[in-house]
Amino acid sequence: MTFSQKLILNGTQTFLNYKFKQNFKAIKKGDTKKLPSKKSYMMYIHIPFCHTFCTYCGFHKYIYDELLAKKYFQALREEIKNAKELGFDFDTLYVGGGTTLVNENELLKTLELCKSLFSIKEISCESDPNHIKPDKLRLFNGLIDRLSCGVQSFDDEFLKKTARYQKFGSSKELIKKLEAAIGILPIFSIDLIFNFPAQNEKDLLKDLQIAQKLNPTQITTYPLMKSKLTKKLIAKSFGKDLVDKEFEFYKLIQDFFKAYQQNNCWSFSLEKNSLSDEYVSYHNEYVGFGSGAFSFLDNKLLVNAFDLNEYESLGENKLIAEFDFKRKDILRYNFLSKIFSLELDIDKFNENFTCDIKKDLSLELALLKFSSFLFERDKKFILSDEGKYLFVLLMKEFYTNMDTVRAFFKERILH
Ligand SMILES: C[S@@+](CC[C@H](N)C(=O)[O-])C[C@H]1O[C@@H](n2cnc3c(N)ncnc32)[C@H](O)[C@@H]1O
Ligand code: SF4
Repeated sequence: MTFSQKLILNGTQTFLNYKFKQNFKAIKKGDTKKLPSKKSYMMYIHIPFCHTFCTYCGFHKYIYDELLAKKYFQALREEIKNAKELGFDFDTLYVGGGTTLVNENELLKTLELCKSLFSIKEISCESDPNHIKPDKLRLFNGLIDRLSCGVQSFDDEFLKKTARYQKFGSSKELIKKLEAAIGILPIFSIDLIFNFPAQNEKDLLKDLQIAQKLNPTQITTYPLMKSKLTKKLIAKSFGKDLVDKEFEFYKLIQDFFKAYQQNNCWSFSLEKNSLSDEYVSYHNEYVGFGSGAFSFLDNKLLVNAFDLNEYESLGENKLIAEFDFKRKDILRYNFLSKIFSLELDIDKFNENFTCDIKKDLSLELALLKFSSFLFERDKKFILSDEGKYLFVLLMKEFYTNMDTVRAFFKERILH
């Protein structure tokens, strides 16, 4: 990487962090989810339960309890029915967690309800390796189009340090579970994490080779994200990071998947699939359901209640807060989420966001072009290999900052 690339890399990360702090200062009491002005949105549902917690994970979750979960799913379905009454429609559904398949029957009822109420054409879910048993997955045939399963690593030592060995089994056991599950639903993605402290190139290559041998339709490689919430826990179980090899690891990953189709900066497929890969990436507006879910509607970020009791008792309107953004920051956010899929169609972007990107983001684009992170061809902005790494870093920074926002609301629960 050149000197100017390193400079821009550090500068954009600092700028993104600064923008987060600035934008999340002015918190307002959440209004209601307004009647939609457009026809169709992306729907996000949050399932905040896991049997135990992993050391690195800052997602919003509670320890699973059957009774608690049943009550939760019931309240969730009420919130969904209310959106139908408000006039919303959705074409895509992303279910995230937590562990979304933690209670298969309740999830089944919820997905069936969504399909019956809205024009949903594709559903993606996340799971852990304990909830991918073939007989359970078959229940979701025709409902779930893509299932991503968190594996994180096939290295027993890393699995122990992330507290996953005890829950999900050794590398050998994980391979058996995955072999039985892959092929039941149309798209199966294996999620891996790279850049664990003390990880070396050989460890990473081994993880990639094992994942490849299992032949899933998709492999996603996330860089380890350390937020305020998880930093200490990660350092406690892994020790301090002596040398950060993130860029070298990312290059290794890109070389390894040369023969694959790259869906976005961190996801690779055997064939290019048309499903939405990151829920923020293709849909500039989405509506979140469930405790701790975010919605992005009419240039506002809306926040649902985190605390389960509060979420259930709130009735029709589950919002506890909202944040407004300046037009320029929204354009920057949309630019980040679109270019993350490797290229951006200039005319479509201008039409979608009623802007002239070359004028509105002229400085940002000049810097990215000058440092060869991005180039223009056939009315598209296209990322270079270094550019893909830059946007992995920025997306990582974005998620880490969202963890801080979640931590803020969780602290409100604790006090
Ligand atoms: C919300 S988790 C749910 C997955 C499922 N509960 C599991 O653990 O298998 C979705 C994925 O995000 C990724 N992830 C979670 N925390 C991360 C972190 N701190 N850094 C990088 N990736 C992370 C993991 O690959 C994980 O599988
Ligand atoms: S990684 Fe998955 S299983 Fe582990 S705590 Fe996070 S959501 Fe739960």
